[in-house]
Amino acid sequence: MSSISRRHLMLAASGIVAAAAAPHTVFAQAAAPAPAAAPPGPFTLPPLTYPTAAFEPHIDAKTMEIHHDRHHQAFITNLNSLAKTNPQLATTAVPEVLGNLNALDDSIKIAVRNNLGGHANHSMFWEIMGPNGGKPEGEVLAAIDRDLGGMEKFQNDFNAAGGRQFGSGWVFVTVDKDGKLAIETRPNQDNPIMDGKRALMGNDVWEHAYYLTYQNRRADYLKAWWNTVNWSKIAERYAAAKAGKLGV
Ligand SMILES: [Fe+2]
Repeated sequence: MSSISRRHLMLAASGIVAAAAAPHTVFAQAAAPAPAAAPPGPFTLPPLTYPTAAFEPHIDAKTMEIHHDRHHQAFITNLNSLAKTNPQLATTAVPEVLGNLNALDDSIKIAVRNNLGGHANHSMFWEIMGPNGGKPEGEVLAAIDRDLGGMEKFQNDFNAAGGRQFGSGWVFVTVDKDGKLAIETRPNQDNPIMDGKRALMGNDVWEHAYYLTYQNRRADYLKAWWNTVNWSKIAERYAAAKAGKLGV
């Protein structure tokens, strides 16, 4: 084989000859790579049931898109990676895993706490938000009046607790089997399930939830977020909690 043909073969193998022969095709492919396929695995990202712009101007569409498609997806991706060597993570109910973190091997405990906690928190978060979310009624309103001092005090106290949460975390309303409510915060991606409780609802006070619109003004985000709450879904969760059937 001549040195020229050998060089041609080497260049062809590296794609350089093809690029010279059909530059438009090659560059077009380079400019528009195929979208990355969702990594295979037992955990999947729950789709939003409303458009990302549903909460404008209170939560901007870009924040919703990044928050759901990238931040929540990152937990799913990490969980699928963990499940390759720990398949029981995907076959055990999420509350059972989160409620028994100490039963896990030390090598995965922190990763499960963060990623399954993040998956649970965000799944709840997307569920309890929705356009035209109405107002609290019936049993939920009665519980808010009884346990949290009425709507105005509840919202003020919830916002204050979310504002006080140092760094990243969540502000929740927990609910027990008797339907009693309490405002509680957790750091990072911890969830009340981890200490035997259940979240009726909660707001994400990580900066990724609000920074594009509100920058450092977490208090303004906390106040505006109430416009996104879906009270009929919270009523469903309240009934499920009293029946001992609330998942995450
Ligand atoms: Fe988040």
